[in-house]
Amino acid sequence: MIQSTLHVAIIMDGNGRWAERRGLPRLAGHRSGERALRRTTVAAARCGVGTLTVYAFSADNWKRPASEVRGLMMLLETHLAKEAAECRANGVRLSVIGRRDRIPEGARLAIQEAERLTQHGSQLHLRLAVDYSSRDALVAASGKCLASDVDRGAFAAHLDSPDVDLLIRTGGEKRLSDFLLWECAYAELYFTPVLWPDFNEDDLRAALSDFQKRQRRFGGLPETSDSVPHLGIRAGA
Ligand code: FPP
Repeated sequence: MIQSTLHVAIIMDGNGRWAERRGLPRLAGHRSGERALRRTTVAAARCGVGTLTVYAFSADNWKRPASEVRGLMMLLETHLAKEAAECRANGVRLSVIGRRDRIPEGARLAIQEAERLTQHGSQLHLRLAVDYSSRDALVAASGKCLASDVDRGAFAAHLDSPDVDLLIRTGGEKRLSDFLLWECAYAELYFTPVLWPDFNEDDLRAALSDFQKRQRRFGGLPETSDSVPHLGIRAGA
């Protein structure tokens, strides 16, 4: 059982630009992004993050050139094969969210094996979103809900994905790109121009430190306030 409930989600953007700036093929950027993912997983466990969900491949990324898609799927397969034992040794539970039926067989088997090997990890839950679309996940959850009385809790249970506390997007863009739309309802958003392959532990710590300064109200009043200042009425009076 993972102790920390802190859920950080990351849109790992900027691999292509990182490579272009160096005159390298885009896949070199993704390979460097894979190293950044490994670094960030270790850093997240050290920083007390309980769940880390990263956007590795969106359902819309199939529109990219076939060679880039093939390269990313190979990278996924080798990443899982390399990392599973390391994750297990470090108490990291690894799982993959998103569709499985379009993933090449080699990568699909690597996912199953990594999930099996690491299922008892209790330090950090690392979730890779692969062939993932939040809209599709919402449609699938609504399908499961049709026969029952639905409230927010029941719906969220069908989604099987915890609320996000902090959403980080690297690469300078400021959008959610169909990632964890329901789960980010009250997430704090953090956008950084750092390109994903350059992201390191200091960057993660800067995001977490910024997050700690945010006042989260979830639509209510600040936790420390027991009054309604502008009316001068004390809460509960
Ligand atoms: C977005 O950057 C990134 C992706 C579509 C892939 C993310 C993949 C990794 C971080 C590598 C690790 C992944 C696996 C599969 C283990 P972009 O290519 O859109 O960058 P750009 O906006 O600069 O072109």
